[in-house]
Amino acid sequence: MQMAKFITFEGIDGAGKSTHIPFVAELLRARGLTVVTTREPGGTALGESLRDLLLHQTMHLETEALLMFAARREHLAQVIEPALARGDWVISDRFTDASFAYQGGGRQLSRDKLEMLERWVHPHRQPDLTLLFDVPLEVARARLDAERTPDKFEQEHAAFFSATRDEYLRRAAQFPARFRIVDATQSMDATRAHLQTLIAVL
Ligand code: TYD
Repeated sequence: MQMAKFITFEGIDGAGKSTHIPFVAELLRARGLTVVTTREPGGTALGESLRDLLLHQTMHLETEALLMFAARREHLAQVIEPALARGDWVISDRFTDASFAYQGGGRQLSRDKLEMLERWVHPHRQPDLTLLFDVPLEVARARLDAERTPDKFEQEHAAFFSATRDEYLRRAAQFPARFRIVDATQSMDATRAHLQTLIAVL
């Protein structure tokens, strides 16, 4: 049987990645695969409690990075690794690239510290495929639901998101084997068609 794969969805807030997760999960299920969908920060009871703190409380940027990785440690132990060991495919709405993009790019935490945490928390695990939903800042801003109260990150200024987006694109260039960039300014149908071609080769 084919080895189970770990797929992550990334992009700045408002890129629209979360909308496409059920579609990709269904494409895989149609092949008879069992798929676990999850998210970060979160994915476990402890992780969801940490998510609540991370999205709503102001804290030192290193505290923020440490809590992101603490939630991730639990997520790997409770959800991601057991699922892959069972042969289930895993789709996560964000993973470590988000820490490099938001805490590293957006907040300017040193890459060395993030790499240290990455080596601690998942020395032997990387996503098999990372779909980076990329959009210009203005498009992402316009998409953020005007009705909903924005969380701590969504309230950040344009320079923060510009640095976050740049770091995502830098990582995509650094790890071309696992990253695929999805132009998220396209229509829903065009994005789905692109996703279908990317998933078909897995
Ligand atoms: P997001 O995935 O955008 O969820 P929703 O669509 O419900 O708003 O929210 C998670 C936020 O957490 C997002 O703004 C990015 C941020 N984040 C980090 O800053 N670092 C991380 O390591 C992760 C996983 C997320």
